[in-house]
Amino acid sequence: MLGDQKVVFSGVQPSGNLTIGNYLGAIKNFAAFSEEYRCFYCVVDMHAITVRQVPAELRRRTYETLALYMACGLDPEKNTLFVQSHVPAHAELAWMLNCYTMFGELSRMTQFKDKSAKHADNINAGLFTYPTLMAADILLYQTDLVPVGIDQKQHLELARNIANRFNQAYSPTFVVPEPYIAQSGMKIMSLTEPTAKMSKSDPNPNAVVYILDEKDTILRKFRRAVTDSGSEVKYEEGKDGICNLISIYRCLTGKSIEEVEREFTGKGYGDFKNACGEVCADTLAPVREEFARLNADKAYLESVMKKGAEDASRAAARTLTKVKKKLGFVV
Ligand code: TRP
Repeated sequence: MLGDQKVVFSGVQPSGNLTIGNYLGAIKNFAAFSEEYRCFYCVVDMHAITVRQVPAELRRRTYETLALYMACGLDPEKNTLFVQSHVPAHAELAWMLNCYTMFGELSRMTQFKDKSAKHADNINAGLFTYPTLMAADILLYQTDLVPVGIDQKQHLELARNIANRFNQAYSPTFVVPEPYIAQSGMKIMSLTEPTAKMSKSDPNPNAVVYILDEKDTILRKFRRAVTDSGSEVKYEEGKDGICNLISIYRCLTGKSIEEVEREFTGKGYGDFKNACGEVCADTLAPVREEFARLNADKAYLESVMKKGAEDASRAAARTLTKVKKKLGFVV
């Protein structure tokens, strides 16, 4: 809570190539939160440098990510949109929270284990303490609700533990945040391997539909989607390919499973895949156009970042001062 308003916070990696999984499972629903909550969405460039980045690309993707979120419906008048490194309180609180996070806890994080396997030549301390910075992001704003993908649930659990530990060692300081894991969309699977999650870093480009893909590309990817033996559009246990396509179609159209099945009775997989491609391309076309418009206007994006950083800094300063006082710093 900030004042009398409940708070939503989420962090997004500065990578421009978000997938329809990100869109349907998360971003599309973010705009609705601002009716009820004070919302902060942060482009986490400091998290990004835990793996090696090409500087010019990081900079470009930071703008792109902001533009993409706005194109997906996040209005900067109704949400605080900002860049993590513009608000130094994140780094400050992260240091303090590092001293309230156990080595053992961080060692158990599956993302750390995965990433250190993947970047075995660069297992740096930042990669290890990544979850503490994430906890700082969240706790700085007295966040009630954190919309994240299921893969971030463990990090959120750690943030809760850190908050509770600090609150118990001193006195209530942080709101203990709850995860918000969207039901729909979280199950959007790869188009080529429907038992694995659709991941933006999948090396097979046919597995993933990106929000910014062109219509032709989208149609082609759906046409090539792996489906199961049989030919009926029916949601059945074990038919992972067709179930995934039905889920995607449902998310895009708002229809129920029964409605989708009825719509495609007597039609084959081919027709259904085309329909999926069409509705997906139509849904994303306005997002892509708005993205292009916003991304071309760097001055405007910078003004959004600047205002966002000012608003965020103001909110963050309250928590940071409180924490410093409790720790015994001279403030
Ligand atoms: N770790 C998150 C991810 O990779 C990004 C993130 C950073 C985040 N800080 C956050 C998400 C705070 C939610 C809240 O997706």
